[in-house]
Amino acid sequence: MQNLQIKLTKDGSHTLWVQDIQESFHSMNGAITESRHVFIDQGLKYLCQSSGKAVISILEIGLGTGLNALLTCCYCQEHKQKVQYTALEPFPLSWELAGRLNYSEHIAHSQSAFWFAELHKTAWGQIEPLNPYFSILRKKETIQDHAALNQYDLCYFDAFAPGRQPDIWDMKVLDIVRRGLKSSGVLVTYCAQGQFKRNLKELGFHVESLPGPPGKKEMTRAVLPD
Ligand SMILES: C[S@@+](CC[C@H](N)C(=O)[O-])C[C@H]1O[C@@H](n2cnc3c(N)ncnc32)[C@H](O)[C@@H]1O
Repeated sequence: MQNLQIKLTKDGSHTLWVQDIQESFHSMNGAITESRHVFIDQGLKYLCQSSGKAVISILEIGLGTGLNALLTCCYCQEHKQKVQYTALEPFPLSWELAGRLNYSEHIAHSQSAFWFAELHKTAWGQIEPLNPYFSILRKKETIQDHAALNQYDLCYFDAFAPGRQPDIWDMKVLDIVRRGLKSSGVLVTYCAQGQFKRNLKELGFHVESLPGPPGKKEMTRAVLPD
């Protein structure tokens, strides 16, 4: 990806601004605040509490800065929760750029800087443990090319907004995600677009509209039946 600029968001954490599509990687109202609310609190924490699973398998679309992965890694260590994390990213960031992001300064965990660097240096296509609870598999591929069946408990759907990247929110891609999820699998995203939620319902998801992070009225959580 070309033409990326580091920007400061309202909670003091960085995001990246993509000049070509005039879009940021996270909410300008707070990158860490948004990631924590949407993916950790309403996704991972919800699933841990509702399922009590010993090991949770997560699919992220797409890895980008690695902020969601880092917050998940910290959660795992803190709560002694095992997670196997698969992150798709067709356009990886260079460490030269990612290494300038200030996430570890805003995350109260003594090892966050170390884990952030490690996760950006893991070999592509290999499962790499970052701590006893969290392992990551980075795949340099698109969701459109990802063939997984009945593999994931949770999907962090963190693509660019429908107005910028419409194809990734359509039925074809959502069906790939549905097939990759296990029964009772959960998808969370910051997006609350009507057509997207109707697509999820048509594919058999139970769709909840939840309060969004600062600056966004709603977000979406969708759960497959048992
Ligand atoms: C809104 S950004 C969010 C990134 C990340 N979750 C973060 O916190 O930085 C969307 C990411 O999806 C990636 N992406 C774009 N097209 C994709 C595709 N077809 N499949 C998977 N990821 C894709 C982009 O390269 C970008 O890194």
